[in-house]
Amino acid sequence: MSSDLALDVRDLRVYYYTYAGVVKAVEGVSFQLRKGETLGLAGESGCGKSTLGFSLMNLVPPPGRIAGGSIFLDGMDIAKMSEEELRRKIRWKKVSMVFQGAMNALTPVYKIGDQLAEPLMVHKGLEKNEAIEEAKKILPKVGLDPEIVNRYPHELSGGMKQRVMIAMALVLRPEVVIADEPTTALDVIVQAQILNLLKSLKKEFNISLILISHDLSIMAEVVERLAIMYAGKMVEIGSSDELFADPKHPYTQGLLKSIPKLTEKGLHYIPGTPPDLRNPPQGCRFADRCPFVFDKCRREEPPMFKVGKTQYAACWLYE
Ligand SMILES: Nc1ncnc2c1ncn2[C@@H]1O[C@H](COP(=O)(O)OP(=O)(O)OP(=O)(O)O)[C@@H](O)[C@H]1O
Ligand code: SF4
Ligand SMILES: [Mg+2]
Repeated sequence: MSSDLALDVRDLRVYYYTYAGVVKAVEGVSFQLRKGETLGLAGESGCGKSTLGFSLMNLVPPPGRIAGGSIFLDGMDIAKMSEEELRRKIRWKKVSMVFQGAMNALTPVYKIGDQLAEPLMVHKGLEKNEAIEEAKKILPKVGLDPEIVNRYPHELSGGMKQRVMIAMALVLRPEVVIADEPTTALDVIVQAQILNLLKSLKKEFNISLILISHDLSIMAEVVERLAIMYAGKMVEIGSSDELFADPKHPYTQGLLKSIPKLTEKGLHYIPGTPPDLRNPPQGCRFADRCPFVFDKCRREEPPMFKVGKTQYAACWLYE
């Protein structure tokens, strides 16, 4: 693994083993995260974005687990580590995550300071008062007054709570941060503030950031590279300039057309629904919804083809 990579993910598979069958939420995903870059992860609801995020900390909620593949970080394979090793070496210290919707899951009965102090006590062995002091130092970095350590979550606005969640993800100075829909449920002004905050923290802390969002207009402003997922697969990846200017995968093309534009009347959308991930179709998973589908698509799964300077797409049109 070359030294300019923060993560090297190879053929990753993540499944949920439910009574109703095995949900193949992430299937054969490979990509690399470069040191210091911001990579966006987009795609329709249920395509596996959060599952992929969880797996990068090897923290997939049960009944899910990593079923195969590798996630290399500093020469170690996170996918194959024991719980003990993950806790000691990886989670929060090397890779951390701002969970989707987590700002509404702050424990209501604990003060903000106690919640920020906990990882510092558990992982760095600090005493409580030391940990609170440390927490006070990180709060200004996310634009909050250190005195909010004495407040309870219900005393904070949504934007402030999200800033606390970001502070929690940063408190042990990880190298990789995954932010899962960090601005969903916030109003537009606060959304912009949170995105600007993430941008400046990325520089200051020199982190590699994975930004998960279904909102492509946000991606266009923030990410350097963009990966598009469809039904558990990564179908396209490339620099965001190239990908927005000239999307190659028919799914990406449909997704970009579905961004509402002030200048156009009517909203485009991709007809049909994604396949059941318990029993995905053979061949290309997008075939049933693809305007360009041909014979081979239903028979064989398309691998990634190089389709631009930085761009790759999993589609037989580019064989
Ligand atoms: N705990 C679970 N048990 C069973 N299936 C699950 C579980 N969590 C997620 N899934 C399934 O895994 C697939 C991927 O879900 P995931 O939450 O990763 O998607 P997502 O892209 O993050 O969606 P969203 O945009 O709605 O957040 C979906 O089909 C979902 O139903
Ligand atoms: S492989 Fe075929 S069905 Fe799949 S996106 Fe390409 S053209 Fe469409
Ligand atoms: Mg999600």
